[in-house]
Amino acid sequence: MKFDTQAIHAGGKHTNPEHALNPPIFMTSTFTFDNTDKVDDVMSFKSDDYVYTRGNNPTLRLLEQRMAALENGKGAVAFASGMAAISSVLFSLLRPGDNVLVHRTLYGSSHSVVTETLPRFGMGFRIGDLTRPGDIASMVDDRTRVIYFETPSNPNLDIIDIRRVCAFAKTRGIKVVIDNTFASPYFQRPLELGVDVVVHSATKYICGHGDVVAGIAVANDPDYIMSLKFEYMAEFGGVMSPFNAWLLLRGLKTLGVRMRQHAANAMAVALHLQKHPKVTQVFYPGLAGFPGHDIAASQMSGFGAIVSFEVRGGLEAAKRVVNNMHLFQLAVSLGDCETLVQLPAAMTHRGYDHARLAEFGLTESMIRISVGIEDIEDILAELDSILANA
Ligand SMILES: Cc1ncc(COP(=O)(O)O)c(C=O)c1O
Repeated sequence: MKFDTQAIHAGGKHTNPEHALNPPIFMTSTFTFDNTDKVDDVMSFKSDDYVYTRGNNPTLRLLEQRMAALENGKGAVAFASGMAAISSVLFSLLRPGDNVLVHRTLYGSSHSVVTETLPRFGMGFRIGDLTRPGDIASMVDDRTRVIYFETPSNPNLDIIDIRRVCAFAKTRGIKVVIDNTFASPYFQRPLELGVDVVVHSATKYICGHGDVVAGIAVANDPDYIMSLKFEYMAEFGGVMSPFNAWLLLRGLKTLGVRMRQHAANAMAVALHLQKHPKVTQVFYPGLAGFPGHDIAASQMSGFGAIVSFEVRGGLEAAKRVVNNMHLFQLAVSLGDCETLVQLPAAMTHRGYDHARLAEFGLTESMIRISVGIEDIEDILAELDSILANA
């Protein structure tokens, strides 16, 4: 099956005694047993029936199987949020004394988990510029067990060569974990390029409608999936609600349609911004002159829909732009139908040390747009109107 078909049908036959077109929502905490023999079968993993929703649930299982198919992996684990997925994966792969190498630009809370939470448990971190894969050997040491990054990165759209990082990591026995939130599996399938674990804030494009907070991790190693599910997700307890899994299954049906419209709109926005006299810099991997454009073209089938930019006049001008919006919304998050605009340094990346923002590829005045799927004429008219305030 092709991607758009898989997004609607993949995941096998769902438990559905009444033959409803849509899967039921198994809104239950617990499952009953006919007798103790059945209990023994499930508890010893001889049967994959259900016990308790923090371990397994048919609605969650269908979502996990569909996401595994879309990322071309062997299994997936659903989590209560993207951060639950990210922190559980990092804790599952690191031990005290180990360290993780991360790219300099990460989503703010991911940066905080790595630089503040992990060290409290004896796990270290190293920060490098992974857009320079030729230098990675100098960024790791013999206790580096994981390389973690986003590509495109949030919010400056850095592009990292996934194949090259994975080729290096394999020579050192290091696991590679990617946050694939910006691209979604529609535009990028990192497991096919050698990555060990893909994580998502499913809150974003997977959901697509801004009504769920959720996360997911996908991998190719079934033993790792079992360990992540039962030793980390189920034990830390960051389980997804079956209702949210059902909303994500609904969102996934239109992932391809939405991503095509998002990306077409984003390209038009990036080109429009590039020509605008009040704009000094545009960050979008689809632009031919953008650093990383060629690598993005070689590992993505489209460039996504996040565009960042700088306006003449710095922070004060940027604030005037975002304080005078009508169609666009001033909001964190991304990947929704609505166009959402924010100032990362003041919002999603507020936790970064502001004195060192430049080291992390940010400025205080950078504006990030999550380009929605509204009519492009309305989007461009709003852009012109808000830029007039810069
Ligand atoms: C790239 C990226 N990764 C992870 C997250 C965290 O996901 P969640 O908010 O679902 O916990 C976000 C949230 O904005 C994000 O943008």
